[in-house]
Amino acid sequence: MELNKKNIVVLTGAGISSESGLKTFRDADGLWEGHRVEDVATPEAFLENPELVYDFYNQRRRQLKEVKPNQAHLALAEFERNHNAKFTLITQNVDNLHELAHSQNIIHMHGELQKVRCMETDEVFPWTEDLDSDSVSPTTQKSGTLRPHICWFGEMPYHMVEIGDALRDADIFVAIGTSGLVYPAAGFVQMVSHHCYKVLINKDAANNNPLFHEVILGNATQEVPKFFQQS
Ligand code: APR
Repeated sequence: MELNKKNIVVLTGAGISSESGLKTFRDADGLWEGHRVEDVATPEAFLENPELVYDFYNQRRRQLKEVKPNQAHLALAEFERNHNAKFTLITQNVDNLHELAHSQNIIHMHGELQKVRCMETDEVFPWTEDLDSDSVSPTTQKSGTLRPHICWFGEMPYHMVEIGDALRDADIFVAIGTSGLVYPAAGFVQMVSHHCYKVLINKDAANNNPLFHEVILGNATQEVPKFFQQS
């Protein structure tokens, strides 16, 4: 596949970070095996038991201090640096490994662990430490108004207009490390134009894999560098 001068859109999911030591959601021993999604990743859960939800994301945020980008994150960043056309990286991941790998044009559609949002003003702030109901908003100085800047089930993912534009213009769409079970991301492969070449790089056959022209089964750290070094 010739990648030169092509408008490329990449979508990443939890699978790209698993070899860095972060758990995926739905693999055996994944995050959703130990938790009910409804208890930790919905607006209702946060209303009912905010401390449990804060704690779930505090644990995830703390873990970021122990992990590093892997060969797949690094290969994407290197490819973007040398690419001579548009490159957009849409990620469902809330970790910061694409940033640490120095990717540039990153869209975090499900939010970021290292950001919090004020429920009163909608302002988003960088946040690297634990968060709880005593945490004080940097602008209003009030406590109890900050929540993780994470898109929960039942909420609209962020930056959807920008994502729609990027997908419509893509010549090549590459989904990496995602199970194809969570919409709208699972449907991006159907939002690209008819001329777009669609590739999936995933460890196991993803739910939506018949929609791709090419399916590469394997570990992201091996297959992503191979795919992006071929041009
Ligand atoms: N290399 C490539 N793919 C891998 C690897 C690896 N090393 N390890 C796991 N995978 C694949 C799995 O085969 C699986 O299909 O990554 C996929 C991970 O799927 P999920 O756990 O469902 O993660 P994801 O698709 O990112 O989930 C989407 O669901 O719970 C929500 O908001 C959360 O952003 C998340 C969304």
